[in-house]
Formats: sequence, C-alpha cells, structure tokens
Amino acid sequence: MPFAQEQSKSSTVASEQLSKTETIKLRNKHIGQACQLFYRSDPLKIVRGQGQYMFDEEGTRYLDCINNVAHVGHCHPEVVRAGALQMATISTNNRFLHDELVQCAQTLTSKMPEPLSVCFFVNSGSEANDLALRLARNFTKRQDVITLDHAYHGHLHAVMEVFSYKFNPSGGEKKPDYCARGPLPGHLWRPVHG
Ligand SMILES: Cc1ncc(COP(=O)(O)O)c(C=O)c1O
Repeated sequence: MPFAQEQSKSSTVASEQLSKTETIKLRNKHIGQACQLFYRSDPLKIVRGQGQYMFDEEGTRYLDCINNVAHVGHCHPEVVRAGALQMATISTNNRFLHDELVQCAQTLTSKMPEPLSVCFFVNSGSEANDLALRLARNFTKRQDVITLDHAYHGHLHAVMEVFSYKFNPSGGEKKPDYCARGPLPGHLWRPVHG
C-alpha cells in the first residue's frame, strides 16, 4: 500500500458537498472509465492536502507517497501565493516576452553544470518525455528508442508507444520495431518478456 494511514483529530476538513456515494455515482456517469480509481473496492475521497499529507472527507490523514506533483508538499504557501499572483496577473503563451519566464530559466540554469543553460518549460512529465523524444530524434535523425522493463513515461501517444509494460504477452500491444527493450538493472520484480 503506498499510503500509511493514520487518524488526525486536529486536521481541518474541507466542507463536503456530496456524499462519497454521490461522488462515485457522478464519477461513473461523467468521468472516462479508462481513468481507473485507486483502491477500487473502497476508493479514497481526498478533499485537501497539506505538506506531505492528504486528508479524506472524514479528516483521516494519509502520508502521501504516490503523488509526484507536489514536490515541495501540498499547498505550500509560497507556491500558492506565487501561483495565485501569477493567475491574477496573466497566464498566457510562452511565445510572448515576459520577465518571469526568463528569470525563472536563469535561476534554474544557475543551479546546473555547464553547458546546461537552456530551458523548455512544459506542463507535465508526459510532455517533458515527449519533448525529449522529439529533441533526440531531431538531433540524431533516428527514431530508435530503448525502454526498460516496467518503465512508465507518461500518457501521451508518443510515450505510450514506448511504454514497456504494455507489451506483455497477455493481450498487450505489439512493440513498435523502433523500440528495443532492456532489463531493469538490479530489479527484484518478475520480468515480463514480450
Ligand atoms: C517516471 C514518470 N515519467 C512520466 C510520468 C508522467 O508524468 P505526468 O503525470 O506529469 O504527465 C510519471 C508520472 O507518474 C512518471 O512517474
């Protein structure tokens, strides 16, 4: 289980508008089935987060070991403040000149070794991997990719195609010719060979 569960009496619970049963009913009606719930037999209804914790509708606190978005913790006040300020100012295309964009790139690259001095800003890990494929293919003029067993690269079409655990023998998809599979070094999992 990726969550360590513990009760928190002191946590503030966000006001709940729907019962859990109503939320499940609406979800089944309006959210695509391909986006499967975690813990389907008894799904968690998460109503808020703080730091390393998430809280359900009854105030039960969970140590969040599953999200990879909140790198500095859920609802970090500085991130919330900066995000709210930017949204209240302008949220537009990176193809316009904007000081925050170039200054953010400058700050990030100042922490990197030479010659890493150029940034592409993206919205997600999937986009980053998709862009990485495009950059590599543009540079090498080749299409080939090596993917490791059990690798997950995101949900965009280009990265799903090189997503190794889709190529399993039990009804998985055919591995594209341009994609080679490699074993995960030192892994403890049972290998899936396709
Ligand atoms: C290794 C890895 N690559 C890519 C992704 C996709 O990132 P995102 O969900 O931000 O598109 C994830 C997300 O879990 C990931 O763990």
